[in-house]
Amino acid sequence: MLWSFAIIVGLAAQLVTATPLTRRWNDVAEKHSWAEVPRGWEYHSTAPPDHMFEMRVALKQNKIEDLIANLMETSDPNHIKYGKHLSLAEAEALVAPHEDSVEAVEAWLEHHDIPRGNVTYRKGGGEWVTIRVSVAQAERMLNTKYNVYHHPASSERVVRSMSYSLPRELHSHIDVITPTTYFGTLRSMRKTSFLQPPPVVLEDAEFDISAAVPSSCGSTITPACLRALYNTTNYVPQATIINKLGVAGYLQEYANRADLQVGS
Ligand SMILES: *[C@@H]1O[C@H](CO)[C@@H](O)[C@H](O)[C@H]1NC(C)=O
Ligand SMILES: *[C@@H]1O[C@H](CO)[C@@H](O)[C@H](O)[C@H]1NC(C)=O
Repeated sequence: MLWSFAIIVGLAAQLVTATPLTRRWNDVAEKHSWAEVPRGWEYHSTAPPDHMFEMRVALKQNKIEDLIANLMETSDPNHIKYGKHLSLAEAEALVAPHEDSVEAVEAWLEHHDIPRGNVTYRKGGGEWVTIRVSVAQAERMLNTKYNVYHHPASSERVVRSMSYSLPRELHSHIDVITPTTYFGTLRSMRKTSFLQPPPVVLEDAEFDISAAVPSSCGSTITPACLRALYNTTNYVPQATIINKLGVAGYLQEYANRADLQVGS
């Protein structure tokens, strides 16, 4: 009597502890995949299983809608919040992940026995988690296969996958994991932008600015192009002492100060 009672209690305890864990992490669903290798890239070889790399996990930003709404308001001259920009701390609070997201990812890393020392959290917003893993470990975590791909136009080689999956319950907490299926890289993207100049929209029926924009703006942007495109050709700057111009630089391409000189 007592003995069978003990067995039942033991079984029940096992069910309670074992079921959520196994169900949680084994129930995986695809996060992203390609049907074929993206244009410009070629399969080269399988990735060495012991190759170490930094896997970056982008957690869902909890209040991104609020951030976008705020940006719209502070940019609208007719809004009461116009020009009242967020402080860095306020902006970081809006891009930070929900604590449930951090907790879910930590539990997942623990399940895979990833040592704490291999994990770093971005300070501030905290939406990026970087994990030092081997290819073999990442393949187990993402239910994928990593290969080396070659980009002949830039002679670049990268380790990527054609698809990856995550436990279903992590999908609502994670935006994206890199490197996985995104093939654009610093070098290949810079090359691409020169190989295929993006067409500048020179015709717009409603505004008819096409006549004013030089056709050379289709491949090289100059201050004259910007003035024509934004219709500020006749604009005379005011209050030049307090005006500031911010230029964002990406892919190691930065503003050329000489371009800011009048008449260039
Ligand atoms: C953690 O990082 C170390 C050092 O790079 C590495 O040898 C080890 O394999 C990593 N652990 C896991 C589980 O990936
Ligand atoms: C360009 O700006 C001028 C005022 O500087 C304005 O009269 C004109 O309508 C604008 N053109 C377009 C296409 O918006």
